[in-house]
Formats: sequence, structure tokens, C-alpha cells
Amino acid sequence: MTQSATSDQTIFKGTAPKVLANFRRDARAVVAEGDCLKSLRKLPDNFAKLIITSPPYNIGKVYEKATSLEKYLSALNPIIDELVRVLSDKGSLCWQVGNYVEKSEVFPLDIFYYSIFKERGLKLRNRIVWHFDHGLHASKRFSGRYETLLWFTKTDDYTFNLDPVRVPSKYPGKTNFKLDHPDYGKPSGNPLGKNPSDIWKLILHEWEVGLWNIPNVKANHPEKTVHPCQFPIELVERCVLALTDKNDWLLDPFSGVGSAMLAALRHNRRAIGCEKEKEYVKIAKQRIKDLFSGKLRYRILGKPVHQPSGREKVAQIPQEWLFNGNGK
Ligand SMILES: C[S@@+](CC[C@H](N)C(=O)[O-])C[C@H]1O[C@@H](n2cnc3c(N)ncnc32)[C@H](O)[C@@H]1O
Repeated sequence: MTQSATSDQTIFKGTAPKVLANFRRDARAVVAEGDCLKSLRKLPDNFAKLIITSPPYNIGKVYEKATSLEKYLSALNPIIDELVRVLSDKGSLCWQVGNYVEKSEVFPLDIFYYSIFKERGLKLRNRIVWHFDHGLHASKRFSGRYETLLWFTKTDDYTFNLDPVRVPSKYPGKTNFKLDHPDYGKPSGNPLGKNPSDIWKLILHEWEVGLWNIPNVKANHPEKTVHPCQFPIELVERCVLALTDKNDWLLDPFSGVGSAMLAALRHNRRAIGCEKEKEYVKIAKQRIKDLFSGKLRYRILGKPVHQPSGREKVAQIPQEWLFNGNGK
């Protein structure tokens, strides 16, 4: 497999795996079309090292029908039971959600999901804040600019590989300053970089802003498809690299256009997705083909977010505001 980077996309090439419709332990890629509960019931116990998903948020997207919060959450119970069953003892479950909003009241979904998973014995390792700079501008509250990813493990003996996801240190030249330290005067950091923390803003001069910023997948993003709320592949890549080893299985029970699967396949992991919408299944399969033929456009893990230079028209203060005081 090869990889080359251009200014706004990563090209990756390899031999495309056959995408199966049903799980087989020796498969590399499976897309199970239909209701995920049915597909999950056919899967073996303890096989998935990483379950990562962005479930329907119950906000009336084209693929969902909004109901009361209680009904929405209780409908997910049997699915969550299956997920816990199929999760490996060394495995992780990453649940990415935003807010459910009813009559302008905000219900952060992770608060509700936390107890659902805790009741089933899972242990929270991080509540990761995924921060982005763009989105709707609210008028009656502050504009929402983050979603969260709850990272649970099934046991205390879980896979966690920090080195592949380290980021550059702010002060790599720092040395041990205590005279009685055995390594006094030697560098105190890790040459591979530092722990990326639980706030994911992208590595735009990460050492300056101290955050990771993975851009939300919106219109101008190289990965955008017809799906209304896709995962950025980059977001999943970090979890794949940290929480799985080569050849492990990743499962996304609400796989949409297959973004999580792509992140797994790109790093030599096996991937299974469940998706009820035919159109999204078709796109996911095409994206897998495109990934291996080198046609899939996607953001490089850790590529800096575009910063306006100030010379773009949209980055300049409109003339009307300059002369008339906010146009009035
Ligand atoms: C928030 S989206 C996930 C998008 C995905 N992360 C991606 O990058 O494309 C949720 C997806 O779950 C699918 N879905 C909802 N209920 C489902 C069910 N019961 N079984 C299978 N898929 C379902 C929807 O069609 C939608 O594509």
C-alpha cells in the first residue's frame, strides 16, 4: 500500500478487499444492509475491538423520524445490548453525539447515554470534546461549536496505543530541571510528541493553540457526500490507531456512507458497517473502491485547518460597516 499527500487530500492505494454482505471472520470488509438490530444479532460474541458510531440524533434528519427523547433512547436499548455483547473484552466503544433540542431546550445526548452504558458495566475512559469552528449561528443561546465522543472500555485490560497518535510537543526542548533527577539536564518530553488530550481540535500549530481541530464535514470539505452528517475520516482514524491493532475488527452499527470503515481499512484493520438506507450503502461501497484505487479524497490526519490570510473578501470587514457603523 502506498500513500502520497497533496495540499488538500491524501491519496492511498492498495488492493481493494471484497465487500461482503454478511459477516465472516476472515473477511476484511462487510456492509450489512438493513436494520442494524437484525444484523447485530447474527454477529459472534466478543469479536469487535472497536465499536465507533454516530447514532441517529433524533433531530428529524432525512433518515430518521423525531420522537420524544424517552422513546428515542429506549428504542436503542436492544441495539446497545447487542453492541456490548459483540464488543471484545479488550475493546472500546466510542459513541459520538451532539444535542437533542426540543422547543429551544437543549438536551446533551451524552449525559443520557452515559448511564445507559454504565448500567451495562462499561467504563468511561474519556469524554472527548470534538470542537469545530463552523455551524449555525444561534440567536437565543450561544452557538454550539462542539460535540462529544464518549470512549468506554469493556474491562480494565484494554488496547491503548498512544505513540501512533502523539502530537508535537509545545516545548520539545524542555529539560529535567531538578538537580536530584537522574536525567537532570536531559530532555524531559517524549521524542514522539505529547498526548493529544481530550479536546480534539486540529493540529494547526498545535503547539501554539494546544488543541486539535478536526473540521466538521460540510460543503467545502474534500470528503463531503450526500449524507447530511458524515464523520470526518480523520476523527475515526485517531481512534483506530489508538484503540486497535492491525487485523482487528471495527464495527459501526450506523455506518452511513462508511467513513468509519474507511478509516479502519486504510490502516489494515477489518471493518463492518450496518446501514438501513440503500443509497448510503451504495456510496459506502463506492468509497471503499475509491479508497483502494487512489481516487478517494480526504483530509490528512492532522492537516492544519485553513486559516484566512485576511486578504480573502469574506475575511474583510464590509465597507458598509466601516462607514456607517454596523450598516445603520
Ligand atoms: C448520524 S448518521 C451516521 C453517519 C456516518 N457516521 C457516516 O460517516 O456516514 C446515522 C446513520 O444511521 C442510519 N440508521 C438509522 N437507524 C438505523 C438502523 N436501525 N439500522 C441501520 N442504520 C440505521 C441512518 O440511515 C444514518 O445513515
